[in-house]
Amino acid sequence: MEVTVSVKRIGLLKRGDKIYAFTALCPHAGAPLCAGWIDGLGRIVCPDHKYRFDPANGRNTSGEGYKLFTYPTEVRGDDIFVGILDQTNL
Ligand code: FES
Repeated sequence: MEVTVSVKRIGLLKRGDKIYAFTALCPHAGAPLCAGWIDGLGRIVCPDHKYRFDPANGRNTSGEGYKLFTYPTEVRGDDIFVGILDQTNL
């Protein structure tokens, strides 16, 4: 599912008992990753060109050399916290 945190579009994915957060737009050409699907190995498949990304670390597992930005998450009760860092200050 896609949510907005601050002004960022974030994708959230539950795989097993873990929740992963990642930039909702594909690093290749900006397709909305939440319109894609999850393959049998739990990787995000982009709906446009079918590049695959591991939600745990953002690695482009289909080998095109892109990196999906990921965020740390923490579940507290019924709430999901996403570690948003203002990258303009890095
Ligand atoms: S826009 Fe996602 S693979 Fe091209």
